[in-house]
Amino acid sequence: MKKQDTKKIVRQGYAKVAMQGSSCCGPSSTCCGTPDTAKDISKKIGYTDEELRSMPDGANLGLGCGNPVAIASLKEGETVVDLGSGPGLDCFLAADKVGKKGKVIGVDMTPEMLEKARENANKGRFENVEFRLGEIENLPVDDNAADVVISNCVINLSPDKQKVFEETFRVLKPGGRIMVSDIVLTKPLPDKIRESVDAYIGCISGAITKEKYLDTIKAAGFIEVSIVDELSIPVEEWINDPISSSITETLNISAEEAKDIFGTVASVKVKGVKGTAS
Ligand SMILES: C[S@@+](CC[C@H](N)C(=O)[O-])C[C@H]1O[C@@H](n2cnc3c(N)ncnc32)[C@H](O)[C@@H]1O
Repeated sequence: MKKQDTKKIVRQGYAKVAMQGSSCCGPSSTCCGTPDTAKDISKKIGYTDEELRSMPDGANLGLGCGNPVAIASLKEGETVVDLGSGPGLDCFLAADKVGKKGKVIGVDMTPEMLEKARENANKGRFENVEFRLGEIENLPVDDNAADVVISNCVINLSPDKQKVFEETFRVLKPGGRIMVSDIVLTKPLPDKIRESVDAYIGCISGAITKEKYLDTIKAAGFIEVSIVDELSIPVEEWINDPISSSITETLNISAEEAKDIFGTVASVKVKGVKGTAS
């Protein structure tokens, strides 16, 4: 797939999710889910009941694979950028933490998702959150503007991850932090999964290995890069998931192969710092 085709397909997939408020994609225990299960998924991946209760209806579509705000140690007055903000859940949680003197900028390339996020911001009366239309490979944010960049289950969807981390580095102030949750692999996927459009939108086939993910962040200039937390998704959850099983059925993948494939997928929380000499 060409990079622009990939983005077009991803945008179409998430436009559908935004409009239907339900999943177009992948394992409901990682990236994307149905509204009925959104709360359960979110609790499994690290959100508290209290956090979820305080959010406007519709801000949580169960699209994340971790809770990056929980590890971002946000302080009052900080400026936060959320890459691929979706319906806005992490932006709103971050907004509560940075307070009125702080600011949160959510960036998403899908207009329908942005519309949802803005509606949710109005519902929740969040005055310190702004949503901008744009691609994470070319962030609509000034140089040295942010204290923290967060992202939840999005960078795996980018066909140019190196550019995403370079852009993240550019917009962070010296000393600024990157704190992201994302899907990585413990070994490369077979070609038939890598080439599947549904598996791409479902946050599986765009994922890279853990080592490559960390190396790409370091290559962008970050220091102190490390994995803060790692969650393996139980293979049974994938196998029993209707969307994952539809992918395996379409691709004619046996139960044994499916176990092997899904056993390689992990959800990680990763941090890094832009050195003060940068
Ligand atoms: C799996 S959802 C995650 C949404 C949100 N972070 C959450 O946890 O609810 C992926 C989001 O990233 C956006 N996205 C994917 N690739 C993008 C890119 N290259 N640039 C900007 N946004 C992107 C999609 O439009 C979608 O809203």
